[in-house]
Amino acid sequence: MLSVAIIGATGVVGQEFIVALDKHPWFEVKAVAASERSAGKRYIDALRDSSTGILKWHQRTPIPEYAKEMVIKSVGEIDARDYDLIFTAVESDDARVIEPRLAEHTPVISTAAAFRYEQDVPILIPGVNDAHAELLEVQREKRGWNGFIAPLPNCTTTGLAITLKPIQDAFGIERVIMTSLQAVSGAGRSPGVSALDIFDNIIPFIPKEEEKVQVEARKILGKFSDGRIDDARFRVSCTCTRVPVIDGHTECAFVETSRDCEPDDVKHVMLKYSRGVSIKDLPSAPADYIIVHDDPSRPQPRLDRDVNDGMSTIVGRIRKDTAFERGIKYVLLSHNEKMGSAKGAVLLAEMLKVRELL
Ligand SMILES: NC(=O)c1ccc[n+]([C@@H]2O[C@H](COP(=O)([O-])OP(=O)(O)OC[C@H]3O[C@@H](n4cnc5c(N)ncnc54)[C@H](OP(=O)(O)O)[C@@H]3O)[C@@H](O)[C@H]2O)c1
Repeated sequence: MLSVAIIGATGVVGQEFIVALDKHPWFEVKAVAASERSAGKRYIDALRDSSTGILKWHQRTPIPEYAKEMVIKSVGEIDARDYDLIFTAVESDDARVIEPRLAEHTPVISTAAAFRYEQDVPILIPGVNDAHAELLEVQREKRGWNGFIAPLPNCTTTGLAITLKPIQDAFGIERVIMTSLQAVSGAGRSPGVSALDIFDNIIPFIPKEEEKVQVEARKILGKFSDGRIDDARFRVSCTCTRVPVIDGHTECAFVETSRDCEPDDVKHVMLKYSRGVSIKDLPSAPADYIIVHDDPSRPQPRLDRDVNDGMSTIVGRIRKDTAFERGIKYVLLSHNEKMGSAKGAVLLAEMLKVRELL
């Protein structure tokens, strides 16, 4: 078993890590850390509001037994050398300070954006760009660290990149135009989205989201050679909106391809890719990496987000585009709190272990 620490374990994403690592066959949680506010308390007590008794546990499954009695450490009390792997789930400003200190000694898998855009840092989606993991060795050497920082993408990028990969491999991509309908859970709880703002409403702006997806998709689908990633050359244009859905980001994608393709060809390459995906035997991998529906009323967040515990990307409505000369369009659904977050980070850790980077 590899020994693991979770930093930010009391937050929304940290709680997802607590669940995703429960009874994991390869990783054992040996330490949980959070801010000074929580340090020194038992995990369950740190979640409880002492004046009201309300337990701030946001997951649908109960708090795993292993975590309840663990005493929370402050980050300063964590000696990275005591762990084989550290998951971090803190805000970007904190991550910028905390993660390099830990990565000096131990691999860090991060859900924060702090280091995503640095040249020696890959943005990894297991099954899509596993070869970019080699950049972690470059990072180690360049920074003189024993560990590294491996960030996840933004949760809106995940499903888009997963569906673009087989299209890129088979037909080439010239342009991508994507409009998202993003779940409220993607905004977290601090500050989150006010119920008064989102009920009966759509908010047509999510600060910094479009820029993140545009940059990340090209980096993830870029080519790794000579110790660096050359971004994919296609252009990406996004409109990101927030809709009154609890979990699951829906995205409407238009793709101009380099070579002609029909909707059936796209379905075929997506399913072929899904069957042969590199990570299919890992403990957190879904039975189906990509699912393609013929029913034109799918995917729907309520019906499809929990399929394979939220780890599958669900596609539907693949059809010929009528504006691009060579184009197709489709709708995808990706669970922002599962494949797009902590459980996706655990899957990434599994991929890195198999590649002997942990
Ligand atoms: N796709 C993705 O990768 C994805 C998806 C969603 C969110 N995120 C990112 O994940 C990160 C966490 O988001 P969240 O919604 O879980 O935030 P959150 O609910 O506010 O939780 C923040 C966590 O960080 C802890 N913390 C705060 N300041 C700290 C410090 N100085 N040192 C150590 N721990 C500290 C908090 O501890 P206390 O409880 O003690 O205050 C809490 O455990 C953010 O960067 C967010 O953007 C990524």
